[in-house]
Amino acid sequence: MTNLSKFYQKTWQQRLQALIDQKIISDQQRKILQCSASDPELGDQQIENYLTHYNLPEGLALHYLINGKRYLIPMVTEEPSVIAASSHGAAIIEKSGGFTTKVSGHLLWGQIVFEKVSQPEKLKKNLEEQQEKLILIANQAHPSLQKRGGGARHLRVRILAADLVSLDLAIDTQEAMGANMVNSMLEAVANYLGTQISAPVLLSVLSNLADESLAQASCRIPVEFLTRPQLAGQQVAEKIAVASRLAQLDPYRAATHNKGIMNGVDAVAIAMGNDWRAIESAAHAFAVKSGSYRGLSQWQLNSDNSILEGKITLPLPVAVVGGSIKIVPLVQLNQQLAKINSATQLAEIIASVGLAQNLAALQALVSEGIQQGHMRLQLRATILAAGAQPNEVATILKQMQQMKKTDLTTAQSLLAKKHESEH
Ligand code: MEV
Repeated sequence: MTNLSKFYQKTWQQRLQALIDQKIISDQQRKILQCSASDPELGDQQIENYLTHYNLPEGLALHYLINGKRYLIPMVTEEPSVIAASSHGAAIIEKSGGFTTKVSGHLLWGQIVFEKVSQPEKLKKNLEEQQEKLILIANQAHPSLQKRGGGARHLRVRILAADLVSLDLAIDTQEAMGANMVNSMLEAVANYLGTQISAPVLLSVLSNLADESLAQASCRIPVEFLTRPQLAGQQVAEKIAVASRLAQLDPYRAATHNKGIMNGVDAVAIAMGNDWRAIESAAHAFAVKSGSYRGLSQWQLNSDNSILEGKITLPLPVAVVGGSIKIVPLVQLNQQLAKINSATQLAEIIASVGLAQNLAALQALVSEGIQQGHMRLQLRATILAAGAQPNEVATILKQMQQMKKTDLTTAQSLLAKKHESEH
């Protein structure tokens, strides 16, 4: 049995040594952990039981023109085709005049849920009547937020079942994502209510269904800009509109449609040090708000069929301060690259990236299919997986392209032949 007792109390070096002593990793593997540990002191402060930094590739998406302003957009992703697709989608939209965006607010909902409620209607009325007082208590728990122009704004009460009632507070978190602020404000209100309401508080925490933090991006593309080698732009546009309708009708397709959107959204969220799990859960909860799960974007042709109009609406509870943003130098560099200085601007960028990503995926899907482009980009990863060093990839790639092969076995055998000839 392995013994890693008090692992969290050990220093980073001691932790690696304990894994070796327990024969969990080899000395060679310790070197891998050490090499990736770009900043062990920082890592140790960020999380418990820190081992190493897990590196993901970061690249720049180009061609983003949003509300008349050009942006360079850092994206972090391991999926080979994401940044290429993003820049491609953005380039088509750039030619068409760029993205137009609208951000409707930056409010987070926080929930205080009462259980064992005997008279839900009475409780609802009681809570609603105390709106002013409850908002005051919430704001007193975080006065600095109010000083910055944020704070609790309004509340609503929802009867969820005969015995369950949710008191929801809408809180403006300004430039932060605000999870900790919201949670501590909720706890203050819950403590106050605990003294006067007989139904016990089951839990109090923010809701990730951030439907009061919506960002919309739209674009208008002349159909000729969608032309593919085998298909006229008009046909591509018509098919994209049908694919969009399909994503509204079929949850199986909607899940994949939205996954493509989130390829871009998450990649920017990670680069900007944001909580991408919160953004993911918000997006999917929002996608099913009507009762059936739907695509988050819509594409349709205008009245004379000459322009493809695209629109996306996403809940984006994003931040430019707080969390790990200030302590991770790369995040600050990324903010500088994208010239971002407000949560609103970040939301505008992310919504635009989601729409561009979706356009590129749909354009490929309804024309030549995605495999051609994917496999071209995936090939490098396959060659590396076959054991090639980065400086060997170009040679093997060329050979595989000549042979029209994309599989791991071919990569392995070409690599073996290369190594034999070198000896
Ligand atoms: C792949 O990561 C994403 C796509 O499947 C998205 C889509 O089908 O719309 C290409």
